[in-house]
Amino acid sequence: MQIRTCHSITTQTLPQLPCSSRKAHHRHLLPPLNAAVSAAPFKARKAHSMPPEKKEIFKSLEGWASEWVLPLLKPVEQCWQPQNFLPDPSLPHEEFSHQVKELRERTKELPDEYFVVLVGDMVTEDALPTYQTMINNLDGVKDDSGTSPSPWAVWTRAWTAEENRHGDLLRTYLYLSGRVDMAKVEKTVHYLISAGMDPGTDNNPYLGFVYTSFQERATFVAHGNTARLAKEGGDPVLARLCGTIAADEKRHENAYSRIVEKLLEVDPTGAMVAIGNMMEKKITMPAHLMYDGDDPRLFEHYSAVAQRIGVYTANDYADILEFLVERWRLEKLEGLMAEGKRAQDFVCGLAPRIRRLQERADERARKMKKHHGVKFSWIFNKELLL
Ligand SMILES: [Fe+2]
Ligand SMILES: [Fe+2]
Repeated sequence: MQIRTCHSITTQTLPQLPCSSRKAHHRHLLPPLNAAVSAAPFKARKAHSMPPEKKEIFKSLEGWASEWVLPLLKPVEQCWQPQNFLPDPSLPHEEFSHQVKELRERTKELPDEYFVVLVGDMVTEDALPTYQTMINNLDGVKDDSGTSPSPWAVWTRAWTAEENRHGDLLRTYLYLSGRVDMAKVEKTVHYLISAGMDPGTDNNPYLGFVYTSFQERATFVAHGNTARLAKEGGDPVLARLCGTIAADEKRHENAYSRIVEKLLEVDPTGAMVAIGNMMEKKITMPAHLMYDGDDPRLFEHYSAVAQRIGVYTANDYADILEFLVERWRLEKLEGLMAEGKRAQDFVCGLAPRIRRLQERADERARKMKKHHGVKFSWIFNKELLL
């Protein structure tokens, strides 16, 4: 039995796409609680789908990765740290309290919907151990010793260190705002890291780097939108910090897309098939197994709010796909074998199809005009209309 949980943020509205492996598409959101206690449903997955001889490709690209990927990291001394955006606890008590008071003044007009989405984003960032584990499970690029000098391993460790600031900063800002129930937020992180994730990358670096290219761009888009909404809602500091996180995501997207671009050059069919494979499966958001102890459909509900306030939508999903098709010049890709050509046709025609399906889904939703309220523990069980 092959069961996958796949709830990309767009699946609220995005109908199923035709694909060659139907089985893989029986996707339901498993109750995260079950996933947390048992990983059994995921064991049937093909664990190592890259032919072992292809590991050599990644070995042979080490020099290239040192020259073209590692420079996209920022030296620690030039990096921002969460403290740059937060009230300074080394100040005398009154001054520190004043800075906290100002923070609370700034966030006071932001709606609860905004906080639900910001918490979901923060929880996603905070499950970083899961993502480092996923990348370190990719054949040919994993960190064998924990301090491996291979450029792939150097990248992964430093990428993790850069990402680690995202969750820290958002978490502290949310804590100081007083707008969210931190105990519930923390419990959600606890559940999520315990549950793991199933991105469908099969320990295969081809699939893994397609996934991370898409995912980093998705977070760039989402953090960019939370920045815009914070600015409109009256908190320029929150806008600046979300924008700063978005800039990191953009740099990371650039690194992962460069790797896929290189794979398309050295192994066009293999790389094109990998892109087709991931897009067939749909890109699953990394926090799809989130759970707060109360709502077994929490991820679906958080995604619906993100869609409604325009932080991450089905259209964004199609935009990202179109962007990557253009970035990797997939329409012009030559020298493909038959299966590569099939993947090329599928991927290059996919974005318009997603948009058409989305329009029809929106139209149906408008006609039904069905809204229902959902309580979110993160905002003290207040109800939001979905
Ligand atoms: Fe991040
Ligand atoms: Fe990221």
